[in-house]
Amino acid sequence: MLQGKKVLVGISGGIAAYKIPYLVRLLVKNGAEVKVVMTPTAADFVTPLTLATVSKNPIITDFFHPETGEWYNHVELGLWADLMVIAPLTANTLAKMAHGQADNLLMATYMSAKCPVMFAPAMDLDMYKHPSTKINIDRLISYGNILIPATSGELASGLSGEGRLEEPEKIFELIKDFFFQGNSLSGKKVIVTAGPTFEAIDPVRFIGNHSSGKMGIDIADELANRGAEVVLVCGPSGIANKNGKVKRINVTSSDEMYTATTEAFKNADAAILAAAVADYKPKDVSDIKIKKKSDDMNIELVKTHDILAALGESKKGGQILVGFALETNNELENAKEKLLRKNLDFIVLNSLKHPGAGFKHSTNQITIVHKNNKIQDFELKSKTEVAKDIVDTLAEKLKV
Ligand code: CTP
Repeated sequence: MLQGKKVLVGISGGIAAYKIPYLVRLLVKNGAEVKVVMTPTAADFVTPLTLATVSKNPIITDFFHPETGEWYNHVELGLWADLMVIAPLTANTLAKMAHGQADNLLMATYMSAKCPVMFAPAMDLDMYKHPSTKINIDRLISYGNILIPATSGELASGLSGEGRLEEPEKIFELIKDFFFQGNSLSGKKVIVTAGPTFEAIDPVRFIGNHSSGKMGIDIADELANRGAEVVLVCGPSGIANKNGKVKRINVTSSDEMYTATTEAFKNADAAILAAAVADYKPKDVSDIKIKKKSDDMNIELVKTHDILAALGESKKGGQILVGFALETNNELENAKEKLLRKNLDFIVLNSLKHPGAGFKHSTNQITIVHKNNKIQDFELKSKTEVAKDIVDTLAEKLKV
């Protein structure tokens, strides 16, 4: 089932490390090739000999082989893997991952890995609840790493609560899902827009907004993770794509976004427009910096192209079009009206009423409204997880 898949298992030093030989065995039994890299303390909890036996590969804990002095190339190891799974992840290694502290082989490998990374925290309940843990987990999510949340139950300390490592069988299922979904959208071309647009006033000033671009960038990555050909038309954003297969066209203004998106949509199967496009732009753009002369000043604005509406008008049979709506009042009615007016297949509604949703947050809470009036409410989740829900919904419409 997992033949040809290369999984790099990273183990940090927590008691739950004793469960990892079983996970490695499940992976190997199902055809995966497995290599294990451990932090030095992990070897106090589970022996390298056990792991070498079940993985059928030597275990690496240090930059050098203890006897031969041979150097282990962490870059090669990071490039070798199709997936890296770090379990259990202690609070200490979590903090190092969040801040890029490469003081052991596992960390150097993590930082040079080009593949997706799953991480499964395990620690005592108070450590798990600590604000620094939450911030560090959010950080890893913002890097595009995939969280396998800790579960609740009896902990090694004798306390009971959240912080237990997810069971190896469940981690195995998640790894299987990860690979299984890998090609489900292959052969489909999807256009995504993301980020704000900047509308020039003069060479140094613009009208813009606070969109980070994260939601659309996560959607583009998720589509590419499932094998789709993805064109991401992205306004000014400091966030990079995790999946190197996304074809990213960086633009600045709504006019540039309009040109790139309408062109790419001609031979696409679907488009998801998540960009926060400026609705108006200055009518005239000054070639030189405007000097402050009078006490007040007016800038005449004109409407920008409504990119989503333009795609809705040109949409051919079989093409799927998805829009976003950010509403503050009469949310459902406004979203439904937008869906009909712009000829969409479904619309993703962000409510600004929910703390933690919308601009500047790494989490989002959405409702999907379908053309047939079906309404799906989702919980507050990381934007990476929200991207999966949106791509799942698109995949259903594309009948894959
Ligand atoms: N959108 C677009 N081009 C624009 C404006 C919006 O493609 N010039 C897209 C956004 O990417 C999003 C959707 O339209 O998918 C909703 O944007 P929004 O600004 O909320 O909708 P409007 O139709 O402009 O309605 P209003 O501003 O009145 O809420």
